[in-house]
Amino acid sequence: MNVTMKAPLAILISGRGSNMAALIEAARAEDCPYAVALVASNNPDADGLRIARNAGIATFAHSHKGLEREDFDAIIDRALRKAGVRYVALAGYMRIMSDAFVRGWAGRMLNIHPSLLPKYKGLDTHRRAIEAGDAEGGCSVHLVTPTLDDGEVIAQASIAIVPGDTAETLAARVLKAEHQLYPAALAAYVRGHVGR
Ligand code: GAR
Repeated sequence: MNVTMKAPLAILISGRGSNMAALIEAARAEDCPYAVALVASNNPDADGLRIARNAGIATFAHSHKGLEREDFDAIIDRALRKAGVRYVALAGYMRIMSDAFVRGWAGRMLNIHPSLLPKYKGLDTHRRAIEAGDAEGGCSVHLVTPTLDDGEVIAQASIAIVPGDTAETLAARVLKAEHQLYPAALAAYVRGHVGR
């Protein structure tokens, strides 16, 4: 695929950025349908920003502190529009977003969540799966809608929960699966979406 045909993608992060790094790495493949145009964060100290800069990706950081939700989201929205972004991937972006922002990116914003949705929306997903006695945990890539972790699931990966698992040991195995699932699901989504 010609580089100029790739869909410009923004990745929103709040911290470590390991899923972001997986998306950046996958985008290097010639046949990947998206190119990372911007990494943006509500946390100017996010480790992922440093990783993105080292990979030569443009970054934008603005703290949400002291701002109304709508006002902060408008700042992010402006940065995304200015960068010519077509798709948005949330990757450990730990912010509830305003309805107006989410509606503005409807059908073009995806998230990765560390559970087999619709189970365990919100936080502490791995601990809750273990405490419930579930046989497996996992991760889901889904479209973002105004209701938290509620949009259409487009891909999932399951990971067996084994005796002795803690939230940390399960999280580490699920994270590896996230790094495979997210780039593949995003690429498939963008490919299927072309022309829409
Ligand atoms: C990932 O496990 C991701 O699924 C989760 O945060 C972690 C971010 O790690 N996201 C959520 O919990 C969103 N509700 P990363 O910064 O290394 O990608």
